[in-house]
Amino acid sequence: MLKKKIEKAFNEHLNKELFSSYLYLSMAAHLDANGYEGMAAWMRIQSQEEYDHGMKFFDFINERGSRVTLGAIEAPKKEWKSPLEIFEEAYKHECYISKEIHKLMDMAIAEKDYPSISFLNFFVDEQVEEENTAIKIVDNLKMVGDRGVSLYMLDRNLGKRGAAAK
Ligand SMILES: [Fe+2]
Ligand SMILES: [Fe+2]
Repeated sequence: MLKKKIEKAFNEHLNKELFSSYLYLSMAAHLDANGYEGMAAWMRIQSQEEYDHGMKFFDFINERGSRVTLGAIEAPKKEWKSPLEIFEEAYKHECYISKEIHKLMDMAIAEKDYPSISFLNFFVDEQVEEENTAIKIVDNLKMVGDRGVSLYMLDRNLGKRGAAAK
């Protein structure tokens, strides 16, 4: 069984991953409504990935013989000014999640909970990738600026993530 404080913290983090999924789904909806089909498809896949992250916590809590408890998921923001603002916010959100994962790791180390340390290692690595992916898209969007054709091409390119996954 997980120690109570770890069980509580893992349940709270499960909620944060599900919120991430909800936030990216809201971003996908906004991008779709504004004609950025490729970026919307990209965000939708990202949303699914976050759901999968949440389920990893769900399964791990269960496997350790502890209790999953689900709370309310906060409503995500609905409107943004531009795709750049969306991806900048996604990058900031990933940095926040990384910090939260590091806090969980600090707790697992302090409690000498070796299975949790091993479980969290995946997320430490995953967050490096998540931050890197998001900041690269931010950089690309800054490079492109408001040049219509280039923005269209970038949108098409990001949409390939969906095609490759199918
Ligand atoms: Fe995640
Ligand atoms: Fe993420």
